[in-house]
Amino acid sequence: MARENQIIVGLDIGTSKIACIVAEAAPDGRLDIVGIGTHPSNGLRRGVVVNIESTVESIRLAVEEAELMADVDIKKVYVGIAGSHIRGYNSHGVVATKNGEVTEEDVTRVVEAAKAMNIPADQQILHVLPQEYIIDRQDGIREPVGMSGVRLETRVHVITGALSSAQNIIKCCNRCDLDVSAIVLEQIASSEAVLSQDEKDIGVLLVDIGGGTTDLAVFIDGAIRHTAVIPVGGDHLTNDLVAGLRTSAREADILKKRYGSCMTSLISAEETVEVPRVGGRPPQSMPRQVMAQLLEPRMQELFELVREELERSGYRELVAAGVVLTGGSSLLEGTQELADEIFELPVRIGRPQNVGGLTDVVNSPIYATGVGLIHYGQRYREEQGLHFDDTSSESLWSSVRRWFGGS
Ligand SMILES: Nc1ncnc2c1ncn2[C@@H]1O[C@H](COP(=O)(O)OP(=O)(O)OP(=O)(O)O)[C@@H](O)[C@H]1O
Ligand SMILES: [Mg+2]
Repeated sequence: MARENQIIVGLDIGTSKIACIVAEAAPDGRLDIVGIGTHPSNGLRRGVVVNIESTVESIRLAVEEAELMADVDIKKVYVGIAGSHIRGYNSHGVVATKNGEVTEEDVTRVVEAAKAMNIPADQQILHVLPQEYIIDRQDGIREPVGMSGVRLETRVHVITGALSSAQNIIKCCNRCDLDVSAIVLEQIASSEAVLSQDEKDIGVLLVDIGGGTTDLAVFIDGAIRHTAVIPVGGDHLTNDLVAGLRTSAREADILKKRYGSCMTSLISAEETVEVPRVGGRPPQSMPRQVMAQLLEPRMQELFELVREELERSGYRELVAAGVVLTGGSSLLEGTQELADEIFELPVRIGRPQNVGGLTDVVNSPIYATGVGLIHYGQRYREEQGLHFDDTSSESLWSSVRRWFGGS
Protein backbone atom coordinates (compact mmCIF):
# COMPACT_ATOMS: atom_id res chain seq x y z
CA MET A 1 0.00 0.00 0.00
CA ALA A 2 1.52 3.32 -1.02
CA ARG A 3 2.35 5.48 1.96
CA GLU A 4 0.59 8.53 0.48
CA ASN A 5 -2.70 6.69 0.72
CA GLN A 6 -2.51 6.48 4.49
CA ILE A 7 -1.78 10.14 4.93
CA ILE A 8 -4.45 12.50 6.29
CA VAL A 9 -3.75 16.24 6.38
CA GLY A 10 -5.55 18.91 8.42
CA LEU A 11 -5.13 22.54 7.36
CA ASP A 12 -6.27 25.05 9.99
CA ILE A 13 -6.52 28.47 8.35
CA GLY A 14 -6.76 30.58 11.50
CA THR A 15 -6.76 34.33 12.06
CA SER A 16 -3.41 34.12 13.90
CA LYS A 17 -1.68 31.18 12.26
CA ILE A 18 -1.95 28.61 9.52
CA ALA A 19 -1.22 25.12 10.83
CA CYS A 20 -0.73 22.15 8.53
CA ILE A 21 -0.72 18.83 10.37
CA VAL A 22 0.11 15.54 8.69
CA ALA A 23 -0.91 12.19 10.17
CA GLU A 24 -0.33 8.62 9.11
CA ALA A 25 -3.28 6.30 9.66
CA ALA A 26 -2.45 2.72 10.62
CA PRO A 27 -4.79 -0.06 9.41
CA ASP A 28 -6.01 -0.49 13.00
CA GLY A 29 -7.14 3.15 13.01
CA ARG A 30 -4.28 4.57 15.09
CA LEU A 31 -3.17 8.05 14.03
CA ASP A 32 0.44 9.16 14.25
CA ILE A 33 1.35 12.79 13.70
CA VAL A 34 4.35 12.79 11.35
CA GLY A 35 4.63 16.41 10.27
CA ILE A 36 3.67 19.92 11.36
CA GLY A 37 4.12 23.23 9.60
CA THR A 38 2.95 26.57 10.94
CA HIS A 39 3.14 30.09 9.62
CA PRO A 40 1.71 33.37 10.95
CA SER A 41 -1.46 34.33 9.14
CA ASN A 42 -2.14 37.87 7.93
CA GLY A 43 -4.90 37.46 5.39
CA LEU A 44 -7.87 36.78 7.68
CA ARG A 45 -10.18 38.95 9.71
CA ARG A 46 -12.34 37.37 12.37
CA GLY A 47 -11.92 33.91 10.90
CA VAL A 48 -12.68 34.91 7.30
CA VAL A 49 -10.22 35.20 4.37
CA VAL A 50 -10.00 38.87 3.34
CA ASN A 51 -6.68 38.77 1.48
CA ILE A 52 -6.18 35.85 -0.87
CA GLU A 53 -2.57 36.63 -1.83
CA SER A 54 -1.22 36.72 1.68
CA THR A 55 -3.29 33.71 2.78
CA VAL A 56 -2.00 31.68 -0.17
CA GLU A 57 1.57 32.61 0.72
CA SER A 58 1.13 31.58 4.38
CA ILE A 59 -0.56 28.30 3.41
CA ARG A 60 2.23 27.51 0.97
CA LEU A 61 4.91 28.04 3.61
CA ALA A 62 3.09 26.04 6.30
CA VAL A 63 2.43 23.17 3.88
CA GLU A 64 6.04 23.11 2.63
CA GLU A 65 7.32 22.89 6.19
CA ALA A 66 4.94 20.02 6.99
CA GLU A 67 5.86 18.21 3.75
CA LEU A 68 9.53 18.43 4.59
CA MET A 69 9.05 17.12 8.09
CA ALA A 70 6.73 14.28 7.07
CA ASP A 71 8.61 13.53 3.83
CA VAL A 72 5.39 13.42 1.80
CA ASP A 73 3.90 15.34 -1.08
CA ILE A 74 0.64 16.84 0.20
CA LYS A 75 -2.16 16.83 -2.38
CA LYS A 76 -5.39 16.86 -0.36
CA VAL A 77 -6.40 18.58 2.83
CA TYR A 78 -9.30 18.78 5.24
CA VAL A 79 -9.80 22.44 5.95
CA GLY A 80 -11.66 24.43 8.62
CA ILE A 81 -14.22 27.21 8.22
CA ALA A 82 -15.28 29.81 10.80
CA GLY A 83 -16.66 33.34 11.11
CA SER A 84 -19.83 35.24 11.92
CA HIS A 85 -21.45 34.12 8.63
CA ILE A 86 -21.92 30.61 10.09
CA ARG A 87 -25.48 29.77 11.14
CA GLY A 88 -26.77 26.72 13.00
CA TYR A 89 -30.40 25.53 12.82
CA ASN A 90 -32.27 22.59 14.30
CA SER A 91 -34.53 21.01 11.71
CA HIS A 92 -36.83 18.03 11.36
CA GLY A 93 -37.79 15.59 8.57
CA VAL A 94 -40.39 12.83 8.14
CA VAL A 95 -40.81 10.05 5.54
CA ALA A 96 -42.76 6.81 5.25
CA THR A 97 -40.54 3.74 5.12
CA LYS A 98 -40.80 1.73 1.91
CA ASN A 99 -41.13 -1.82 3.29
CA GLY A 100 -42.10 -1.47 6.94
CA GLU A 101 -38.43 -1.72 7.86
CA VAL A 102 -35.92 1.14 7.87
CA THR A 103 -33.28 0.89 5.14
CA GLU A 104 -30.17 2.97 4.43
CA GLU A 105 -32.12 4.59 1.62
CA ASP A 106 -34.95 5.63 4.01
CA VAL A 107 -32.34 7.23 6.26
CA THR A 108 -30.84 9.15 3.34
CA ARG A 109 -34.33 10.31 2.31
CA VAL A 110 -35.33 11.45 5.79
CA VAL A 111 -32.10 13.43 6.21
CA GLU A 112 -32.71 15.00 2.78
CA ALA A 113 -36.22 15.93 3.95
CA ALA A 114 -34.80 17.58 7.08
CA LYS A 115 -32.38 19.53 4.87
CA ALA A 116 -35.20 20.97 2.78
CA MET A 117 -35.40 24.33 4.50
CA ASN A 118 -35.25 27.90 3.32
CA ILE A 119 -31.71 29.16 3.42
CA PRO A 120 -30.62 32.48 1.94
CA ALA A 121 -29.24 32.23 -1.60
CA ASP A 122 -25.78 33.36 -0.50
CA GLN A 123 -25.52 30.58 2.11
CA GLN A 124 -24.45 26.99 1.59
CA ILE A 125 -25.16 23.93 3.74
CA LEU A 126 -21.89 22.75 5.28
CA HIS A 127 -23.07 20.00 7.63
CA VAL A 128 -26.24 18.06 8.36
CA LEU A 129 -25.73 16.35 11.70
CA PRO A 130 -28.44 13.90 12.79
CA GLN A 131 -29.27 14.14 16.49
CA GLU A 132 -31.78 11.32 16.76
CA TYR A 133 -34.23 9.22 14.77
CA ILE A 134 -37.85 8.61 15.72
CA ILE A 135 -39.66 5.49 14.46
CA ASP A 136 -43.45 5.39 14.92
CA ARG A 137 -43.13 7.95 17.74
CA GLN A 138 -40.39 6.03 19.56
CA ASP A 139 -37.66 8.65 19.97
CA GLY A 140 -33.99 8.58 20.97
CA ILE A 141 -32.93 6.06 18.30
CA ARG A 142 -29.36 6.43 17.08
CA GLU A 143 -29.03 3.58 14.59
CA PRO A 144 -32.38 3.08 12.83
CA VAL A 145 -31.38 0.80 9.93
CA GLY A 146 -33.07 -2.62 10.22
CA MET A 147 -35.71 -1.53 12.72
CA SER A 148 -39.39 -2.12 11.99
CA GLY A 149 -41.71 0.85 11.51
CA VAL A 150 -43.68 2.79 8.94
CA ARG A 151 -42.95 6.38 9.89
CA LEU A 152 -39.34 7.55 10.13
CA GLU A 153 -38.48 10.97 11.52
CA THR A 154 -35.18 12.67 12.26
CA ARG A 155 -34.02 15.73 14.12
CA VAL A 156 -30.87 17.29 12.69
CA HIS A 157 -28.57 20.23 13.28
CA VAL A 158 -27.92 22.03 9.99
CA ILE A 159 -24.92 24.32 9.67
CA THR A 160 -24.68 26.82 6.84
CA GLY A 161 -21.97 29.27 5.85
CA ALA A 162 -21.49 32.02 3.29
CA LEU A 163 -20.88 30.53 -0.14
CA SER A 164 -18.23 33.15 -0.87
CA SER A 165 -16.25 32.30 2.29
CA ALA A 166 -16.16 28.62 1.41
CA GLN A 167 -15.22 29.45 -2.18
CA ASN A 168 -12.37 31.68 -1.04
CA ILE A 169 -10.98 28.92 1.16
CA ILE A 170 -11.10 26.46 -1.75
CA LYS A 171 -9.53 29.07 -4.04
CA CYS A 172 -6.62 29.61 -1.63
CA CYS A 173 -6.00 25.87 -1.38
CA ASN A 174 -6.26 25.30 -5.14
CA ARG A 175 -3.77 28.10 -5.71
CA CYS A 176 -1.36 26.05 -3.57
CA ASP A 177 -2.10 22.95 -5.71
CA LEU A 178 -4.14 21.41 -2.91
CA ASP A 179 -7.50 19.71 -3.33
CA VAL A 180 -10.02 20.20 -0.54
CA SER A 181 -11.45 16.87 0.65
CA ALA A 182 -13.97 18.54 2.96
CA ILE A 183 -14.67 21.87 4.60
CA VAL A 184 -15.38 21.44 8.30
CA LEU A 185 -16.78 23.87 10.83
CA GLU A 186 -13.83 24.65 13.09
CA GLN A 187 -15.54 23.91 16.39
CA ILE A 188 -16.68 20.53 15.07
CA ALA A 189 -13.08 19.77 14.17
CA SER A 190 -11.80 20.96 17.58
CA SER A 191 -14.44 18.88 19.36
CA GLU A 192 -13.13 15.76 17.60
CA ALA A 193 -9.68 16.39 19.07
CA VAL A 194 -10.39 17.54 22.62
CA LEU A 195 -13.73 16.12 23.80
CA SER A 196 -14.26 12.58 25.07
CA GLN A 197 -17.27 10.54 24.00
CA ASP A 198 -18.43 10.54 27.64
CA GLU A 199 -18.45 14.33 27.75
CA LYS A 200 -20.50 14.53 24.55
CA ASP A 201 -22.94 11.97 25.94
CA ILE A 202 -23.31 13.66 29.33
CA GLY A 203 -23.53 17.17 27.89
CA VAL A 204 -20.68 19.64 27.33
CA LEU A 205 -19.96 23.13 26.01
CA LEU A 206 -16.85 23.49 23.84
CA VAL A 207 -15.33 26.99 23.71
CA ASP A 208 -12.50 27.48 21.17
CA ILE A 209 -10.92 30.86 21.91
CA GLY A 210 -8.71 31.73 18.94
CA GLY A 211 -7.17 35.00 17.80
CA GLY A 212 -10.13 36.52 15.96
CA THR A 213 -13.19 34.60 17.14
CA THR A 214 -14.51 32.36 19.88
CA ASP A 215 -16.36 29.33 18.50
CA LEU A 216 -18.94 27.44 20.57
CA ALA A 217 -20.54 24.02 20.26
CA VAL A 218 -22.98 22.32 22.65
CA PHE A 219 -23.18 18.50 22.70
CA ILE A 220 -25.98 16.65 24.50
CA ASP A 221 -26.66 12.89 24.32
CA GLY A 222 -23.72 12.44 21.97
CA ALA A 223 -25.00 14.86 19.31
CA ILE A 224 -24.35 18.47 18.45
CA ARG A 225 -27.29 20.70 19.49
CA HIS A 226 -26.13 24.26 19.16
CA THR A 227 -23.31 26.18 17.49
CA ALA A 228 -22.39 29.86 17.67
CA VAL A 229 -19.53 32.24 16.91
CA ILE A 230 -18.63 35.24 19.08
CA PRO A 231 -16.48 37.78 17.22
CA VAL A 232 -14.08 38.30 20.14
CA GLY A 233 -10.75 36.51 20.62
CA GLY A 234 -7.16 36.85 21.78
CA ASP A 235 -6.44 39.71 19.38
CA HIS A 236 -8.82 41.88 21.42
CA LEU A 237 -6.79 41.08 24.54
CA THR A 238 -3.62 42.07 22.69
CA ASN A 239 -5.22 45.32 21.48
CA ASP A 240 -6.24 46.18 25.04
CA LEU A 241 -2.57 45.88 26.03
CA VAL A 242 -1.48 48.01 23.04
CA ALA A 243 -3.83 50.79 24.17
CA GLY A 244 -3.14 50.43 27.89
CA LEU A 245 0.64 49.99 27.77
CA ARG A 246 1.34 52.13 24.67
CA THR A 247 3.48 49.44 23.08
CA SER A 248 3.45 47.78 19.65
CA ALA A 249 1.04 44.95 18.78
CA ARG A 250 3.97 42.58 18.37
CA GLU A 251 5.40 43.39 21.81
CA ALA A 252 1.96 43.33 23.40
CA ASP A 253 1.32 39.81 22.08
CA ILE A 254 4.69 38.60 23.42
CA LEU A 255 4.05 40.24 26.82
CA LYS A 256 0.54 38.77 26.97
CA LYS A 257 1.79 35.24 26.36
CA ARG A 258 4.73 35.54 28.75
CA TYR A 259 3.37 37.59 31.64
CA GLY A 260 -0.33 38.08 31.00
CA SER A 261 -3.08 36.86 33.30
CA CYS A 262 -6.81 37.41 33.50
CA MET A 263 -7.01 36.85 37.27
CA THR A 264 -5.59 39.94 38.95
CA SER A 265 -6.28 38.47 42.40
CA LEU A 266 -3.78 35.63 41.76
CA ILE A 267 -0.83 37.99 41.13
CA SER A 268 1.34 39.40 43.89
CA ALA A 269 1.69 43.18 44.09
CA GLU A 270 5.51 42.95 44.00
CA GLU A 271 5.82 41.38 40.54
CA THR A 272 6.92 43.78 37.80
CA VAL A 273 7.31 43.55 34.02
CA GLU A 274 9.60 45.47 31.64
CA VAL A 275 7.41 46.94 28.90
CA PRO A 276 9.19 47.96 25.65
CA ARG A 277 7.84 51.25 24.29
CA VAL A 278 7.48 52.73 20.84
CA GLY A 279 9.45 55.60 19.31
CA GLY A 280 12.81 54.66 20.82
CA ARG A 281 11.75 55.51 24.35
CA PRO A 282 13.31 53.42 27.15
CA PRO A 283 11.38 50.41 28.47
CA GLN A 284 9.15 51.03 31.43
CA SER A 285 8.82 48.84 34.49
CA MET A 286 5.27 48.24 35.66
CA PRO A 287 3.43 45.97 38.09
CA ARG A 288 2.19 42.71 36.55
CA GLN A 289 -1.10 43.40 38.27
CA VAL A 290 -1.64 46.41 35.99
CA MET A 291 -1.36 44.15 32.95
CA ALA A 292 -3.85 41.72 34.46
CA GLN A 293 -6.23 44.62 35.17
CA LEU A 294 -6.19 45.39 31.45
CA LEU A 295 -6.82 41.76 30.41
CA GLU A 296 -9.30 40.60 33.02
CA PRO A 297 -12.32 42.75 32.01
CA ARG A 298 -12.06 41.62 28.36
CA MET A 299 -11.86 37.93 29.22
CA GLN A 300 -14.69 38.42 31.70
CA GLU A 301 -16.78 40.11 29.01
CA LEU A 302 -16.04 37.25 26.61
CA PHE A 303 -17.07 34.59 29.15
CA GLU A 304 -20.24 36.54 29.94
CA LEU A 305 -21.12 36.57 26.22
CA VAL A 306 -20.50 32.81 26.13
CA ARG A 307 -22.70 32.30 29.20
CA GLU A 308 -25.49 34.39 27.65
CA GLU A 309 -25.29 32.35 24.46
CA LEU A 310 -25.48 29.12 26.47
CA GLU A 311 -28.52 30.41 28.34
CA ARG A 312 -30.16 31.55 25.11
CA SER A 313 -29.60 28.09 23.60
CA GLY A 314 -31.72 26.57 26.37
CA TYR A 315 -29.06 23.95 27.20
CA ARG A 316 -27.55 25.60 30.29
CA GLU A 317 -29.03 23.00 32.64
CA LEU A 318 -28.03 20.08 30.42
CA VAL A 319 -24.25 20.53 30.10
CA ALA A 320 -23.53 18.34 33.10
CA ALA A 321 -19.93 17.61 32.05
CA GLY A 322 -19.27 21.37 32.09
CA VAL A 323 -17.11 23.52 29.84
CA VAL A 324 -14.00 22.61 27.85
CA LEU A 325 -11.86 25.57 26.80
CA THR A 326 -9.44 25.26 23.90
CA GLY A 327 -7.74 27.43 21.21
CA GLY A 328 -4.57 29.47 21.79
CA SER A 329 -6.17 32.02 24.11
CA SER A 330 -7.15 29.31 26.61
CA LEU A 331 -3.41 29.28 27.45
CA LEU A 332 -3.65 32.73 29.06
CA GLU A 333 -2.84 32.36 32.76
CA GLY A 334 -5.94 32.49 34.96
CA THR A 335 -8.34 31.53 32.15
CA GLN A 336 -9.57 28.35 33.80
CA GLU A 337 -9.97 30.03 37.20
CA LEU A 338 -11.95 32.94 35.73
CA ALA A 339 -14.15 30.55 33.74
CA ASP A 340 -14.78 28.51 36.91
CA GLU A 341 -16.12 31.65 38.59
CA ILE A 342 -18.30 32.79 35.70
CA PHE A 343 -19.82 29.50 34.52
CA GLU A 344 -20.20 27.80 37.92
CA LEU A 345 -19.65 24.54 36.06
CA PRO A 346 -16.63 22.20 35.89
CA VAL A 347 -14.05 23.73 33.51
CA ARG A 348 -10.98 22.14 31.94
CA ILE A 349 -8.52 23.12 29.21
CA GLY A 350 -8.79 20.79 26.18
CA ARG A 351 -5.67 19.57 24.38
CA PRO A 352 -5.66 17.24 21.35
CA GLN A 353 -6.04 13.59 22.35
CA ASN A 354 -5.91 10.13 20.79
CA VAL A 355 -2.96 10.70 18.51
CA GLY A 356 0.59 9.33 18.59
CA GLY A 357 3.81 10.45 16.91
CA LEU A 358 4.85 14.05 17.47
CA THR A 359 2.55 14.48 20.45
CA ASP A 360 4.94 16.79 22.32
CA VAL A 361 4.45 19.39 19.61
CA VAL A 362 0.71 19.09 19.01
CA ASN A 363 -0.16 18.75 22.70
CA SER A 364 -1.39 22.34 22.81
CA PRO A 365 -4.86 23.90 22.57
CA ILE A 366 -3.46 25.86 19.59
CA TYR A 367 -3.56 22.64 17.52
CA ALA A 368 -7.07 21.52 18.54
CA THR A 369 -8.60 22.42 15.15
CA GLY A 370 -5.69 21.07 13.07
CA VAL A 371 -5.60 17.69 14.84
CA GLY A 372 -9.42 17.56 14.93
CA LEU A 373 -9.52 17.95 11.14
CA ILE A 374 -7.45 14.77 10.92
CA HIS A 375 -9.85 12.86 13.20
CA TYR A 376 -12.74 14.18 11.11
CA GLY A 377 -10.94 13.15 7.91
CA GLN A 378 -10.43 9.63 9.18
CA ARG A 379 -14.13 9.26 10.02
CA TYR A 380 -15.18 10.88 6.75
CA ARG A 381 -13.13 8.40 4.71
CA GLU A 382 -14.61 5.47 6.60
CA GLU A 383 -18.15 6.69 6.04
CA GLN A 384 -17.65 7.35 2.39
CA GLY A 385 -15.96 3.96 2.01
CA LEU A 386 -12.89 5.88 0.87
CA HIS A 387 -10.35 4.09 2.99
CA PHE A 388 -7.49 4.56 0.62
CA ASP A 389 -9.10 6.35 -2.25
CA ASP A 390 -9.86 9.79 -3.53
CA THR A 391 -12.62 12.20 -2.59
CA SER A 392 -14.23 14.04 -5.47
CA SER A 393 -15.24 17.67 -5.32
CA GLU A 394 -18.82 16.54 -5.77
CA SER A 395 -18.76 14.64 -2.50
CA LEU A 396 -17.51 17.80 -0.82
CA TRP A 397 -20.96 19.29 -0.83
CA SER A 398 -22.96 16.13 -0.37
CA SER A 399 -23.10 16.65 3.33
CA VAL A 400 -25.54 13.90 4.29
CA ARG A 401 -23.88 12.16 7.15
CA ARG A 402 -25.21 9.49 9.36
CA TRP A 403 -23.01 10.18 12.27
CA PHE A 404 -24.01 11.79 15.46
CA GLY A 405 -21.93 14.94 15.51
CA GLY A 406 -18.87 13.03 16.59
CA SER A 407 -20.08 9.75 18.09
N1 LIG B 1 0.50 31.32 26.03
C1 LIG B 1 -0.48 32.13 25.61
N2 LIG B 1 -1.09 32.97 26.46
C2 LIG B 1 -2.06 33.80 26.05
N3 LIG B 1 -2.51 33.86 24.78
C3 LIG B 1 -1.92 33.05 23.90
C4 LIG B 1 -0.90 32.14 24.23
N4 LIG B 1 -0.52 31.48 23.12
C5 LIG B 1 -1.29 31.95 22.12
N5 LIG B 1 -2.14 32.90 22.57
C6 LIG B 1 -3.11 33.69 21.81
O1 LIG B 1 -3.96 32.79 21.11
C7 LIG B 1 -4.42 33.41 19.92
C8 LIG B 1 -4.22 32.46 18.78
O2 LIG B 1 -4.94 31.28 19.04
P1 LIG B 1 -5.22 30.22 17.89
O3 LIG B 1 -3.93 29.78 17.30
O4 LIG B 1 -6.10 29.19 18.46
O5 LIG B 1 -6.00 31.18 16.87
P2 LIG B 1 -6.40 30.98 15.36
O6 LIG B 1 -6.91 29.59 15.18
O7 LIG B 1 -5.30 31.38 14.47
O8 LIG B 1 -7.55 32.06 15.23
P3 LIG B 1 -9.14 31.89 14.95
O9 LIG B 1 -9.53 30.52 15.38
O10 LIG B 1 -9.79 32.97 15.75
O11 LIG B 1 -9.30 32.12 13.48
C9 LIG B 1 -3.62 34.69 19.74
O12 LIG B 1 -4.44 35.80 20.10
C10 LIG B 1 -2.46 34.52 20.71
O13 LIG B 1 -2.03 35.76 21.23
MG1 LIG C 1 -8.76 28.64 15.40
